[in-house]
Amino acid sequence: MRPPLTSLRMTLRFVLPLLLVLGAFAYSSVPLMDQLNLRWFMRDLDLRSATLAATLEDPLQDYVPQKAKRKIMQLFDRAILDERLFALGFCDPRGELIYKTATWPKSLGCARDAAPGRAGGRLVDLPQGAVHVTVSTLQREGEALGKLILVHDMSFIERRSADTRKYVMSVFLALGVAISLITVVIARISWRGWLDGVRGVLRGGIAQRAGFTASPEMLPLIGDLRALLNEYQRERLSDDDAKVSAPDKLRALLHNELAGDEVLVVSNREPYIHVKTPEGVEVRRPASGLVTAVEAVMRACSGTWIAHGAGNADRDVVDAHGRVPVPPGHSSYTLRRVWLSKEEEQGYYYGFANEGMWPLCHIAHVRPIFRSSDWEQYVAVNRRFADAVVAEARTEDPVVLVQDYHFALLPRMVRERLPRATIITFWHIPWPNSESFGICPWRAEILEGMLGSTILGFHTPLHRRNFMDTVDRYLETRIEEEASTISYGGKLTQVQSYPISIAWPEAEAQTDSVPACRAAIRRELGLAPDHLLGIGVDRLDYTKGILERFQAVERMLERYPEMVGRFTFVQIAAPSRSSLDEYQNFEARVRSLVQRINVRFGSGGYLPIVLKAEHHEHEAVNRYYRAAEVCMVTSLHDGMNLVAKEFIAARDDERGALVLSQFTGAAMELHAALIINPYHIEQGAEALYRGLMMPAAEQAERMRSMRMLVRDFNVYRWAGRMLHDAARLRQRERVMSKIAEHGAAPGLRRVV
Ligand code: G6P
Repeated sequence: MRPPLTSLRMTLRFVLPLLLVLGAFAYSSVPLMDQLNLRWFMRDLDLRSATLAATLEDPLQDYVPQKAKRKIMQLFDRAILDERLFALGFCDPRGELIYKTATWPKSLGCARDAAPGRAGGRLVDLPQGAVHVTVSTLQREGEALGKLILVHDMSFIERRSADTRKYVMSVFLALGVAISLITVVIARISWRGWLDGVRGVLRGGIAQRAGFTASPEMLPLIGDLRALLNEYQRERLSDDDAKVSAPDKLRALLHNELAGDEVLVVSNREPYIHVKTPEGVEVRRPASGLVTAVEAVMRACSGTWIAHGAGNADRDVVDAHGRVPVPPGHSSYTLRRVWLSKEEEQGYYYGFANEGMWPLCHIAHVRPIFRSSDWEQYVAVNRRFADAVVAEARTEDPVVLVQDYHFALLPRMVRERLPRATIITFWHIPWPNSESFGICPWRAEILEGMLGSTILGFHTPLHRRNFMDTVDRYLETRIEEEASTISYGGKLTQVQSYPISIAWPEAEAQTDSVPACRAAIRRELGLAPDHLLGIGVDRLDYTKGILERFQAVERMLERYPEMVGRFTFVQIAAPSRSSLDEYQNFEARVRSLVQRINVRFGSGGYLPIVLKAEHHEHEAVNRYYRAAEVCMVTSLHDGMNLVAKEFIAARDDERGALVLSQFTGAAMELHAALIINPYHIEQGAEALYRGLMMPAAEQAERMRSMRMLVRDFNVYRWAGRMLHDAARLRQRERVMSKIAEHGAAPGLRRVV
């Protein structure tokens, strides 16, 4: 309901201009009315004068020859008792005024003014005001007796005109008020009706199912309104999310809004890998953006993380159920390992996930390979992990966080066995356009599997859009574009973009100062203290644009020879999926390119590119981030790329430049980076040079803005947004099922 003050304001906003317009119109019409009035009154006076003259004519025909002055004056005095007749006079044929009333105006002579004018009277301006003068000639038996002059007062016309003006103005005023009020009342009635209609439609699916239909004139507006509403809701939500920027807030959100204290994460890659070394069992953290992000969430929320036990010492440290508390030494959640046979790992992980889905989703010009045998393993392993989820769940409605392209089928498998679970699936890699995705022989199965989720998240709006289009093309579903939901088999899935991020490091987490890191790293590499350094951190993967990056380094050295001997690029490259041909070939190409460039520009102990193709722990990588002038992220296609965000987080000195590929999700957020097309080698070379030469003030300005963004939109916020949306969707589903229950009850047909 609109508050009364707002209504009054709106009414005045409409009524006042209308009244002003009508007032102006009324005011401008007054001179016209005056003229009309004058004409009417003149005609009236002409008639009156003619009648009066005819009345006086008879007695005057007797009295004038008799020179009966007394009788004439009596006659005249009686006549001017009429308030409008101002004076009477009589002129003899010689033009002499022989009889006149006392009121006769001095300035009104006889010779001049008594001359007969046109048929009617005429207006004469006298010092005391305008008068109307008529002249009638008197005759007796054909002999002229003289002229009777009647003088009428015109001042009443002015009085009348003033009265008319007042009258006209008040009529227009009353009219204006009446029109305004009627219009406002009608407008309010139709507005309310229209609003009720719009509200009905905007209530969305529920209202429509309950029998609401939009009137035809509303239809074009509905889409826009819904989109606006969703936008508004998202903005409002993101305001709420802003509060979820710390681990404790995320925990509270989970417990309060989802009433769940049970979080189950499913991913292929485990957060901690136990490996045998000559020194004993070592715990390693894998090179995986997914693991970096989700680990922070799990530390905050606790629960169970189900993953493939891939380390050669993994079995040695778990209990009988494959469980081990992690992080080692500070346990805050449980890691539940699932063991895979060689065949399973080969078909599901190497085959279907990494030779099929990975190249399918990345536009990096590597052909996807789909084998039926791989697909069978993929289905089987998804089922095994689904079994593990059901086995680990202590309640009927756990929150299950499913990670990535390894588990596209798992959401539906879990949904079938735990229908009340909240399943949040996040797709960490890009989603291609529908045509490209159509290559996958099991596209429908993949989509159906994913639609078992409550929430389905992508990094960017483009990937979300691509997914919606793909579903639209290959499955029979009901898609609500504005709400971004897909209804399939009676279940609703919300599809949204949630850009992932990192946990912002505490100030004290940076152990070594930037100058200390700079000095130490240069010393370790055998470089001079002022040597310029570039850094790249990736898995050895063909999607990362590592070859293009090195070509850019080469081109930069060509164009700016003064940089030869002054600049070194360090590439940390974690070996990845190395049993696959494509990855082995790629590693070989990378190594040979490095060698060629180093031969071309290296000399003595100087190497322009240092390739460190081995596993590095996060702390070691962090030292390089802090020591470098420039960080290069040149992915040919990437969901988000957290290296870009980690580099920014590491630079608390607000120095350093980030060269960032336009084909990463990160480029959608980090506008202050030097954004490049990695396929354009010259552009990459120029950006690298520009980053190295960037003035300190510019570095600080760019870094400050990016740091602010990454700090505010951190990983807790990413998870918080998904949990928020899941809670809302759960709520909506609860309401809808209540409505369905009531709707089925007798006597309750329509729910408004
Ligand atoms: C990408 C994927 C992750 C994966 C990571 C490392 O970031 O999205 O799911 O964990 O690469 O790859 P790997 O195959 O070694 O787990």
